Amino acid sequence: MHRSRFIGIGSYLPPRVVTNDDLAEMMDTSDEWIKTRSGISERRWVEPDVTTTDLGLKAADAALDSAGLDRSDIDMIVFATLSPDHEFPGNACFLQAKLDLPGIPAIDVRQQCTGFVYATSIADAMIRAGNASTVLVVGAEIHSKGLDLTTRGRDVSVLFGDGAGAAVMQATEVSDPAVDSHVLSTHLHADGAFAEALWLPAPGMAYEKFSTSAQLEAGLQYPQMDGRAVFVNAVTRMPEAVEEALAANDLTADDIDVFVFHQANMRIIEAAAHRLGAPADKIVNTIDHTANTTAATLPICLDEAAKSGRLEAGMLVAAAAFGSGFTWGSMIIRW
Ligand code: ACO
Repeated sequence: MHRSRFIGIGSYLPPRVVTNDDLAEMMDTSDEWIKTRSGISERRWVEPDVTTTDLGLKAADAALDSAGLDRSDIDMIVFATLSPDHEFPGNACFLQAKLDLPGIPAIDVRQQCTGFVYATSIADAMIRAGNASTVLVVGAEIHSKGLDLTTRGRDVSVLFGDGAGAAVMQATEVSDPAVDSHVLSTHLHADGAFAEALWLPAPGMAYEKFSTSAQLEAGLQYPQMDGRAVFVNAVTRMPEAVEEALAANDLTADDIDVFVFHQANMRIIEAAAHRLGAPADKIVNTIDHTANTTAATLPICLDEAAKSGRLEAGMLVAAAAFGSGFTWGSMIIRW
């Protein structure tokens, strides 16, 4: 069976720690409010001169190190982010230049919190089809530069952090699926009817001009969220996507060794885990120290799980995400 597998994983968090108490000095909020509602204690923020591809590059090199490969072994880049360095071209191209890998295909995925699931699915499909053999899949985000750090933006701003994760995926011939490392399946969904429930309205071509001072005055350059709609849909869609993946592979939740859910909010993760009957000791969480890093979340979780010894070769991993779009999806990986 010609399949893809994860052969390297890496992550990078910028060194500056921003605690809930630090945020309480900028806006009307409190450590107690943030922790109770989200499970977040602190997050990382970049320095002003750091870009999203700088974070992605560090995670990419860490993933290549863990795979024992050189940059020149990569034959395709897929970069998931909602916070690109520039409006265009995409971050995959800027990262490609930093990696000095001219000529190979470079794709951006703009699926927000579900970005890494979509990116993995694309890499998996390209590898299965024989169009790529070693794909660098990156999820990287800078939120701190784009948040409304006044009380007006507190419902959103306290939830997000900066960071990056990356994986190296490679073609493999699977002879024994019960043992051999490979991606079993990926499952992707979206419902654009909820596009405006979590979005960044401006700048954009939907307006008379791409960028106007009226947009800035109205605060449309900051993310806007209907927190309740996000919550209600996330707690349904994420477990649904895992159930779909389990059914597709004739598995039950008991067969899974490690669950990795998108780290948006501890209450969402707990509700998803409860519905699936996933025990707490099988779930990897980073939200307390990373907050929500959107597309970087899943590879950061996988990397931290691998480094702490919770994720070992041969284990079955179920990963799921939900986010802006709305988009959601899942995947099952034999690590
Ligand atoms: N600090 C203090 N007070 C705040 C803050 C804050 N940071 N943000 C909002 N509030 C206030 C509101 O103004 C409101 O005040 P009011 O009652 O006087 O109007 C009150 O807190 C709202 O409180 P609750 O209704 O108790 O808040 P709730 O329990 O609904 O929690 C939350 C809000 C955390 C946003 C919740 O709706 C949620 O978890 N939604 C999911 C959102 C999410 O996870 N988004 C992440 C991005 S999406 C993704 O990655 C999937």
